[in-house]
Formats: sequence, structure tokens, C-alpha cells
Amino acid sequence: MRLPRGFSDEVRQQADIVKIIGDYVSLKKRGTNYMALCPFHQEKSPSFAVHPTKGIFKCFGCSEGGDVIHFVMRMENCDFPEAIRLIAQKSGIPIPAAPEPGQAATADPEQVRAASLYALNESACAFFEHALQSNEGSAARAYLAERGIRPESAVRLRLGYAPDTWDALSGHLRKRGATSDLIVTGGLAVAREESSGIYDRFRDRIMFPILDAGGRAVAFGGRSFRASQTGREGPKYLNSPETPIYTKGRHLYGLPYAREAVKREQFAVLVEGYLDFLLPFQEGVSNIVASLGTALTDPQASLLKRFARRVVVNFDSDPAGRSATLRSVEVLMRAGLQVQVLALPDGEDPDSFVRGQGGAEYARRAAEAQNYIDYVVDRAVQGRDLSHPTTRVEAFRTALPFLAIIPNAIERTAFGDHVAARLKLDPQLVHQEIRREAQGRKSASGPEGETLSRPPSISMTESEFLLLETLLNEPENATILAGALSAGELDGLPCTPFLRRVTAALVAGVAPDYATLADHIGANAQERDVLQRVLVPKKPVPEKAWRDWFTDCLIGLKRTSMERQMALLQDAMDEALSKGDDQAYREHWMRRTGLKRVLARNGLLETRTISN
Ligand code: GTP
Ligand code: MN
Repeated sequence: MRLPRGFSDEVRQQADIVKIIGDYVSLKKRGTNYMALCPFHQEKSPSFAVHPTKGIFKCFGCSEGGDVIHFVMRMENCDFPEAIRLIAQKSGIPIPAAPEPGQAATADPEQVRAASLYALNESACAFFEHALQSNEGSAARAYLAERGIRPESAVRLRLGYAPDTWDALSGHLRKRGATSDLIVTGGLAVAREESSGIYDRFRDRIMFPILDAGGRAVAFGGRSFRASQTGREGPKYLNSPETPIYTKGRHLYGLPYAREAVKREQFAVLVEGYLDFLLPFQEGVSNIVASLGTALTDPQASLLKRFARRVVVNFDSDPAGRSATLRSVEVLMRAGLQVQVLALPDGEDPDSFVRGQGGAEYARRAAEAQNYIDYVVDRAVQGRDLSHPTTRVEAFRTALPFLAIIPNAIERTAFGDHVAARLKLDPQLVHQEIRREAQGRKSASGPEGETLSRPPSISMTESEFLLLETLLNEPENATILAGALSAGELDGLPCTPFLRRVTAALVAGVAPDYATLADHIGANAQERDVLQRVLVPKKPVPEKAWRDWFTDCLIGLKRTSMERQMALLQDAMDEALSKGDDQAYREHWMRRTGLKRVLARNGLLETRTISN
């Protein structure tokens, strides 16, 4: 028997979540929350929280969370209708008779468009795969073979080939019912400037589909591979632009293939490039993902955090790779991951190393990777004459920020001792400096160091996450944010559409309780996870601090905005280069350099450029 529409909401609202969950675990009241040992993972101290009025539970250890229905589904291992029946029974809510069938679901236009873009990308991916295996793909296949990629690996990882024509893909997609508009929106074709019509973005390139964690194609990277005849064959890699389903810096190449292995091994190897992923993966290192290009972003680190506890960073061993390593270490630490660094011999990258020495040797080195502190100190010591006290202090200063970000005080002290011994410095003073630096960071980051250092759970920047937290736990802030929005203060800032949807809903008066809000905005799984975390705060935050905190968030957003603009300009440069448009190239380059200066001046970021 089917249950009538709307009945689940009724059950959710009427059921006492504390009573229902309390039947399964032993809940203790702590502040506004009820706490228990989490029934979904092994733990010794409780990190499982239930919020009585917001109708939600969340485990801060294993990140399981949701409403009362979700809880019962997990505990009873049953489906949705069964869970509702059970809760209704326990709560004394009468179960009504059969429903009116055939009531059409209301479709959200944004979701409809996203669905057609996923389908479009899937068709494109299949088209490229097919082209790689056909006649026209023979040169591409030969190139892959030369790079050591076996045919079955290419098939498994869904590599493809974009034919050397202007309309093969668009023609194919249109025949299957896609409009030109959709194809351009999906970034697979470009609208002609002079005339009407569109042309394929990717031509004569080896295609790497970028998949989300669930394995759906969200974007593509295309590598040119023919020996240059004219010297003008365009950038080495051409990437999809941002689309409604693809935001740069929010995905990890290879994740859907690696996620099970990462969970099993509890750690992930992080590399930079497609090929750096492919070779080790093919040779048996399955817990590997690639950040693609510039150093790791906060959203990528949070994404990794969903599957791994520990990350072994293995970037190129050139100067650019080394500085990207250091910045990624910081990002990973901030996300609450344990970090190790695998430094390969000079001039090697994971791809070349595996081709030379094999996957087993690579796996062995990854398993023995050094703690990042040792890597940092190695770098700090390199080229310095340690017989001088001043150079030893200099080396220490370089390493200091990396010691200060260790979240656990005991570990921080242990590493402090270690570094003091290595640099022959007074341990007392070393500890004092680390403590001071760590304090500085805490107070700079906001009113509650501990709350703030909690990693965000999905691909949102830390600032967006905090902004959301200020909104939901203190609804006054929705008005402030709405004010900022209408005053244009957030224009051009990368507020995720999610954050905008939440703000709009709150301003429209939607109650800030979990199920109402999540349903109202049609939140997906990741978004639900974020809402859960934000709605069950571990600690109350002093009210006065909300304004300052809010301001900090805005600054963070600005920085992210600039970083993203730079990535987009890089792509525009690539594109201009591939069209031979020198003037456009120069314009983009100048804008990008301008941004870089602003960031550098404000000490916001040290940028890594990809040279074409
Ligand atoms: P190979 O050069 O074939 O070994 O590929 P790779 O994937 O190992 O590339 P590499 O190590 O040179 O660069 C790392 C990553 O940076 C690549 O996978 C790309 O994501 C990105 N990248 C490299 N070159 C370019 C470029 O010309 N334009 C853009 N937009 N990205 C690039
Ligand atoms: Mn490479």
C-alpha cells in the first residue's frame, strides 16, 4: 500500500526525534543538543548529536546525518515508506488510506537543466570514447600507447578522442535531440561570433572526462598530442568552461574510480596531472586522485575528507611543484586531514617514475611517505648553511607556519621537539614561538577557534560554510546578508547558488529547521550534509561575535573570487592561444597579472602559473 503525499512531512513534524532515536541509543542532554555514542561507527567518546527542535541528527565523527526518517531507515535497514510506518506507529500517528495516484511531481527548472546537462555530457563522453576506438582515433591511440597507457586502461577510464572537425560532436548531439543552446551551455561547443551557429570546442584532442564522486561526467580536459608542425597548435590542455553543473576546483580527477580503495586504505595519494593519475592507477595504485593543475582548493580537500583520513601529496619535483606542495599541505591540514609528502627524485613526476620503476615501487614509497613536517623542514634547510645560528633561525621561521597549523597541541609539541633537535635550537623557545603563532591564527580566524577550524563537509569554501552558519544559527544575519546582496556587496563573488538559495528562502520567511529548509530549496545529498552540520552547532557562539565573523567571511569570499577569476582567465588565454588571437591573449594575460599583483600585495596568495 502506498502512503499519501505529504504524510511523510506530517510524520517528520509530529514525531519526537529525541524519543525515537532514544529507543536505539542512549541520549544524554548536553546544552541544546542530545549526545550519544554514534551507532554508525565505532567510537569511545560521543560525537553523535540530536537537535530536538530542528528535527535533525548529526555525527561529527562519521558525518552520518539527517532527519528522523533517515535515522530509522539506517538503523532498521528499511526503505522510506517502511520507516515512515514505523515512526508513525511509535508516535501514535494514524496511517491514512491509499493515495490519489498520478499527481505530477513539480519540477524545478534548475534541476531539469542540470539533468539534461548530465545527459549531454554522458552522450559526449560516449561519442569521444567511440571516436578513440574508431579509425580517426588511431593517432590518439598510438600516442596513448607511447605514453604507456594500455588499451584496456583507456577503456576503463573512459578516455576518448575529439575528432579533427568543427562540428562532429555538435552534429551528433543535435541529432540526438540536444539544442545548440544546451550544447554551448554545457561548454562542448562555442557560439560563432560573426555568424549564427556553433562549433566544437574540442578538436583533435585526447579527451579525459572529469567525473563527479558519483561517476557522472561534469566536464572534460582535452590534450593536444601531435608533434607541432606550425608551433601554433594551442595550449597543451584545453578544459571545459564552468557550467551550471561544473565549478572549477570542486572535483578531483579519478575520484569515482578511487573512492572505494581510498576508504579501504584510509588514505589517498594526491597527484597533479591526468597522466600522473593514469600510470600509477593502471599499475595497481588504486587509491589515487589528481587535483588538476593549480594547487589544491578548499573544496577539493573537503571532498577528499569524505573518503580519507590521510593524504600523501605527490606533486612534480620541480620548483613549481614544490611550492604547490606546500600550499596544498596547508589546505589539507585546514580540512582536518593528516598529511604526508612523497618527494620523488629531482625531475621525476609520478607518471615518469612509475614508467621507470613500476607501480609496486611507487606504492612502497607512498606507504613510507614522510610526515609533511619533515618535508617542510627539508625544504627549509635546503641550501642553508646550518652552522650559523641565524640561518637555523631562518629555517625555523620558514617551517613555523606549518608547525602552528597542527591542530592537536600534543602533536604540535612533539613536532616542536623534533624540529628543535634538527635545527639545534632551544626547545623551550621553539615551543613558545609555535604557541604564539598558533594563538595568532586562532584569534585571526574568528571568535571560536575550535568551531572555526572544523572542516567544512562539502565543496564549499570555509568562508561560505561559515557564512551559512552565521545565517542559520542567527536568522538576524539573513537580513544583514540580504542587505549586503541588494547593496551589491556580494556582486561577482562566488556565493554558491546553494548559499543564495538558502538566503532567499530565509528572507522569504522559510523556517530554519532542517527538513523544511532542505525540502524547500530542493537540497541534494551534499547540501543536506552541510545543512546538518551547520544546524547542529557543537558549541554556542557568543552573539556579539557574529558581525565580525560575518566580515571575515566576506574577505574569504573575495579571495576565492579572485582565485577563480584567475583560473577562468587562464582558460581564456588557452582559448585565445588556440585560436591564434594574440590580442585577446594579451588582454587576458594583463588582467590576470593585475589580479595576481593585488593578491600578492595583500599577501593573500602566492600564485602558480601554468606555462603553455
Ligand atoms: P602530460 O604533460 O602529458 O604528462 O600531462 P599531465 O597531466 O601530467 O600534465 P602536467 O603535469 O604538465 O600538468 C598538470 C596538470 O595541469 C594537467 O593535468 C592539467 O590539468 C594542467 N595543465 C597543464 N598544462 C595546461 C595548460 O596548458 N592549460 C591548462 N588550462 N591546464 C594545464
Ligand atoms: Mn606529466
